[in-house]
Amino acid sequence: METIKLITAPSVAALQQITDWLSIESSHGHGFIHNMKWINAAYEEERLFTVETENIAVGFISWKIEHLTAEIDIMAINADYRKNGLGKKLYSLTEKFLKTKGFVVVSLISSPRSSEGFWSKMGFHNFPDEMGARITHFKPLVDTCETSHERPPNRIELWSSEPYMVRHEQLEPDWIWDTSEISSPILQPCNGDWTVSIFENGSVVGEEKTKLKRSVIQESLLDGLFLYISGNQDITSVQE
Ligand SMILES: CC(C)(COP(=O)(O)OP(=O)(O)OC[C@H]1O[C@@H](n2cnc3c(N)ncnc32)[C@H](O)[C@@H]1OP(=O)(O)O)[C@@H](O)C(=O)NCCC(=O)NCCS
Repeated sequence: METIKLITAPSVAALQQITDWLSIESSHGHGFIHNMKWINAAYEEERLFTVETENIAVGFISWKIEHLTAEIDIMAINADYRKNGLGKKLYSLTEKFLKTKGFVVVSLISSPRSSEGFWSKMGFHNFPDEMGARITHFKPLVDTCETSHERPPNRIELWSSEPYMVRHEQLEPDWIWDTSEISSPILQPCNGDWTVSIFENGSVVGEEKTKLKRSVIQESLLDGLFLYISGNQDITSVQE
């Protein structure tokens, strides 16, 4: 294949080329031409990269941002150029860019569903269906803290249930993190109604729904989708 260029500031001509091949694809019943409003907005707001060969834009990716999370909005490679590694190159460039901007996680809605295999090749995980979230896939952009199989004296426990259920059913936590050794951030898909407990020296210093305002945890529910506690956060500063 000819020289491949990844372009982080595409020209108006590139946007027109993309519009042209999306129009052709749409006449065959495929593609994203009906998303042109969002593609144009991403272009205007410099949230769009392209992959070009022989000065023709044959693929693009756009994203949007929210606090510490980024979401891949739309991505397509012209049908004539697929399965040549261009999608991988374009996504990798975007991921590198999002990392340098300090985002801790990237998510997306896999649509069409046929692209799921591509996203899993790019290292994305399924976002748990039972959470009923808008997004379908996510990928941490930072090294994350491993869960613990023990219950050390300093720890965070998370249940995928509301506090009344945890107490009534005396449920075991679904995830435990040892906070005496926390050097990497905790990042976990999480629902605001789930229960989180913070233990210090074996005693509970805070237990509540992840979305409630009483503790530092509230600051850590990224976009209502992820429990995120950075490695250097003071997790014991519970405000009554
Ligand atoms: C999905 C898409 C962007 C992939 O682009 P591409 O240039 O064909 O992908 P690449 O050639 O870089 O493939 C990278 C890897 O993913 C794999 N892959 C690509 N598409 C795949 C698919 N649909 N299912 C499973 N695996 C796939 C490739 O085999 C390759 O694997 P390898 O690294 O082991 O060789 C492209 O097919 C496309 O534009 N599809 C239509 C639009 C779309 O679905 N967009 C995603 C919206 S969420």
